Amino acid sequence: MISPSTLLINNVKINLTLTSFFVRCTHSSIRNGLVGMVGRTPLVRLNKISDETGCDILAKAEMCNGGGSVKDRAALFLIQDAIRKGQLKPGGTVVEGTAGNTGIGLAHMCLSMGFKCVIFMPNNQSQEKIDILRTLGAEVTTVPVCPWDNPNNYNHHARRFAESLKNAVWTNQFDNRANRLAHIETTGPEIWEETQGKVDAVTFGTGTGGTLSGVGTYLKEKNRHIKVVLADPQGSVLYNYFKHGKLERTPGDSITEGIGQGRLTENLKGSPIDDACVVIDTEAVNMTFKLLDEEGFLVGSTSGLNVASAYRLAKEMGRGHTIVTCLCDSGHRYHAKLFNKDVLRKRGLLQTLPEQYHKYLHGN
Ligand SMILES: Cc1ncc(COP(=O)(O)O)c(C=O)c1O
Repeated sequence: MISPSTLLINNVKINLTLTSFFVRCTHSSIRNGLVGMVGRTPLVRLNKISDETGCDILAKAEMCNGGGSVKDRAALFLIQDAIRKGQLKPGGTVVEGTAGNTGIGLAHMCLSMGFKCVIFMPNNQSQEKIDILRTLGAEVTTVPVCPWDNPNNYNHHARRFAESLKNAVWTNQFDNRANRLAHIETTGPEIWEETQGKVDAVTFGTGTGGTLSGVGTYLKEKNRHIKVVLADPQGSVLYNYFKHGKLERTPGDSITEGIGQGRLTENLKGSPIDDACVVIDTEAVNMTFKLLDEEGFLVGSTSGLNVASAYRLAKEMGRGHTIVTCLCDSGHRYHAKLFNKDVLRKRGLLQTLPEQYHKYLHGN
């Protein structure tokens, strides 16, 4: 029997109050299909850097979500939001502009719920992500990189395409606050419960702002002393915005994908942010390889950036603190780029990578 607040699509119960799949940590260990594999990821102690700093540096292992990244949480909530608002009916099309991971999350959810998926992405993203999207049945169009205020920006392509179809929605991850809500209703409570409220600081890199803003909003309500720190890659405006009130980019462009911003998104507006830092590519990449070498985690560079920020915070705050971040996705998604000698050399990152990590690279 399905209650009036739920919808049955492809035998998956969609709860219109947006909370169905995330019955918090204490629930049955049986997951409801792929959609049920979103959230409740393991919270992992990063042992070496925790021991080194005398803090507990913990990370939500977000690659354990059903679609393999932190963006699965947003993807599910965006689709649920569209269904709840009547914008998406059975058999409809989900259209999104994405650097890749949200698209992969959406494509997984669409398959499991019986929707079509169309993705517009900038043409500077890793080939692995484009290939995965196509394998997942998504229709992918890559477009030249241009800023948000240019009508040819990938997000505007997505909006226009959705408007041209019947029974289609542009899920609009950047400005649709269902994204932030995913982290207010899932990631934040998970961190609070899994640490039993013993958390002193959280830090995340920011793309849409959903993760940082949602986790920060939830945790501040529980304890306003928890420090919320935005970790920005080089070439983004957010550090300067939060430190100096100016939307000015820091120098360089970054090897990281999916984080860094040129504007203040609706998902980031009003976030309870206490501090911001820049983690340059050298530091993010070196930490990515340290995680591989010392802890055995094969993750992407945004995970390295997150952990580099957590490590810095641990050193600043001193021994005995608990700092939480996340491992956003797997390194498999960047094998041809982040783990390639030539790519790193051209960006000046091979020269700064400690010698003991060179054995993990391929190419010349
Ligand atoms: C690999 C990766 N890490 C981090 C993020 C940032 O997450 P958010 O959009 O919640 O700020 C993204 C977003 O696309 C991503 O793809």
